[in-house]
Amino acid sequence: MDIIQNFVVFEGADGSGTTTQLNMLADRFTKTSKTAFFPTFEPTGGAIGKLIRSALKNEAVFDPKALCYLFAADRVEHLFSNNGILERTNRGEFVVSDRYSISSLVYQGIECGDELPAELNKDFPAPEITIFFDLKPDIAKERMKARTSLEIYEYLEFQNKVYAKYLAVLEKYAALGARVEIIDASEPAEIVHDKVWSILSQMPIFKI
Ligand code: TMP
Repeated sequence: MDIIQNFVVFEGADGSGTTTQLNMLADRFTKTSKTAFFPTFEPTGGAIGKLIRSALKNEAVFDPKALCYLFAADRVEHLFSNNGILERTNRGEFVVSDRYSISSLVYQGIECGDELPAELNKDFPAPEITIFFDLKPDIAKERMKARTSLEIYEYLEFQNKVYAKYLAVLEKYAALGARVEIIDASEPAEIVHDKVWSILSQMPIFKI
């Protein structure tokens, strides 16, 4: 399995706090390190990512298989474009992405079966560390109550499937040689952040 050093991915079901944690990490890292930090996310802000976002809001409707191809195409751009993940990690930046290929194996695996997402995502290199924010969907639902609009996957029945599939997919990913860390995300954000920090601060890039 190819691994991209200096690249970390946050994964979790909807409402598990990946975005909050990425912001907290970015804040602390940039205050304490001279190394450039690049926080990023999928779907990306690029043209394909924007198309996906409109599908997530149900403004555009795609066959689930077409959406699976779009997520993979967006990931190719994310990795290989100018100033993409590979270029940045190669020049010594620390890149952390809110979601990556495991999201496709989970969400599109549920939507269109395991075969297509497995095929489209098999060649993407793995991050140095994947952190899974472990939060049961009923608690996540409570946290998402304040949101004014929900996306196509954000309903409890689907999220229960997402949560179970994450555990299965991550177990297989770890067995293939990827480093996976699971953090209890039901605790207050500061405590979750400290756990993230204690795992990531062991990475060589933190020592530069
Ligand atoms: P977000 O809520 O973290 O912004 O992610 C957007 C949604 O897109 C979330 O419900 C997960 C979903 N998603 C997939 O279904 N497949 C993917 O490959 C990615 C990256 C996200």
